[in-house]
Amino acid sequence: SEPLKVALAGLGTVGAGVIRLIDANADLIARRAGRPIEIVAVSARDRAKDRGVDITRFDWVDDMTELAQHPRADVVVELIGGSDGPALALARATLAANKGLVTANKAMIAHHGLELANLAERADTPMKFEAAVAGGVPVIKGLREGAAANQIDRVYGILNGTCNFILSKMEAEGRDFAEVLAEAQAAGFAEADPSFDIDGVDAAHKLSILASIAFGTQPAFGDVAIGGIRHLLAADIAEAAALGYRVRLLGIADLGPNGLFQRVHAHLVPLAHPLAHVTGPTNAVVAEGNFVGRLLFQGAGAGDGPTASAVVADLIDIARTEFGPPYAMPATALAAEPAAPTGERRSR
Ligand code: NDP
Ligand code: HSE
Repeated sequence: SEPLKVALAGLGTVGAGVIRLIDANADLIARRAGRPIEIVAVSARDRAKDRGVDITRFDWVDDMTELAQHPRADVVVELIGGSDGPALALARATLAANKGLVTANKAMIAHHGLELANLAERADTPMKFEAAVAGGVPVIKGLREGAAANQIDRVYGILNGTCNFILSKMEAEGRDFAEVLAEAQAAGFAEADPSFDIDGVDAAHKLSILASIAFGTQPAFGDVAIGGIRHLLAADIAEAAALGYRVRLLGIADLGPNGLFQRVHAHLVPLAHPLAHVTGPTNAVVAEGNFVGRLLFQGAGAGDGPTASAVVADLIDIARTEFGPPYAMPATALAAEPAAPTGERRSR
């Protein structure tokens, strides 16, 4: 069947990861989506930069409006970043052109999510942002779909991979903050401006999105009380450990008598709590539902592969349900899956 055609803006850590993933898993994706997913156009700042993937097979488009209106694209994937500027211009132009939008941009969704959702609704076109919260962990789908029947009273967790990477390295190796931050940057976990990570702003962006999904409210980033980890010393972490705690940057949103309370700051987490054992760039989100009880979503919260995984999952959702044939997973797709190797249990 007709491929879902994608225009991709941003060819950095995540954008190049998306190209690699679609290349590597093209057949599997086509089976599961019911049709192929094909990138037709790309954009970034520097056309000549080596990105480790071949981009010469795609149209190159400099202008965001032109990219949004690309005649062959059904969906635009925005992986530039930043709450405003070219990312927001592209998102608005995409929805104005009645195309689907997929983004990993939590800053943009935290600040402009309601406006964009309204534009998407008016255009009757999908807008998806699974990768914006907790990278590869399908927490938005988990809350929206898996926990849809519950009233959620509280949602909290480790929402920034860079901070968790730094804190767990400082804890395990007694190393200095600045040195470990440089490593997180080199690994591609950190934001373009890493102060967003270490001052708690990135976690606050994600918390405000998560809370809006959990409680059915609009993202209210301005209401989040924010603290970071910049001032923590290896000695603070060692002292907490001696008392039976680990230091974790947590985002917490709960419904109290005075409404929704959202805050991000470093917490002492007792060793008995599962979040104390989450290390590296991993994210973990706990949601408490009135019928399901406590849910824990955990996995890689940053990095090219995991984030690309969430972006492409959104594209597969769109390919299945929008602009073409309906959800195609059952019989036909399963029949086309190669048999599992002997001894491996298939759990679908
Ligand atoms: P990078 O900085 O690695 O890549 C950004 C890309 O955007 C680059 O290709 C850059 O072009 C392009 N770009 C920047 N400014 C412009 C502009 N003015 N016009 C056109 N293109 C531009 O970022 P990431 O890939 O790390 O992140 C992308 C998005 O994904 C962000 O919103 C981020 O918050 C989010 N995210 C990132 C995760 C991660 O682990 N890295 C995880 C989850 C979400 P050029 O390469 O030519 O300079
Ligand atoms: N800078 C972010 C982090 C990327 O470290 O969690 C994933 O959103």
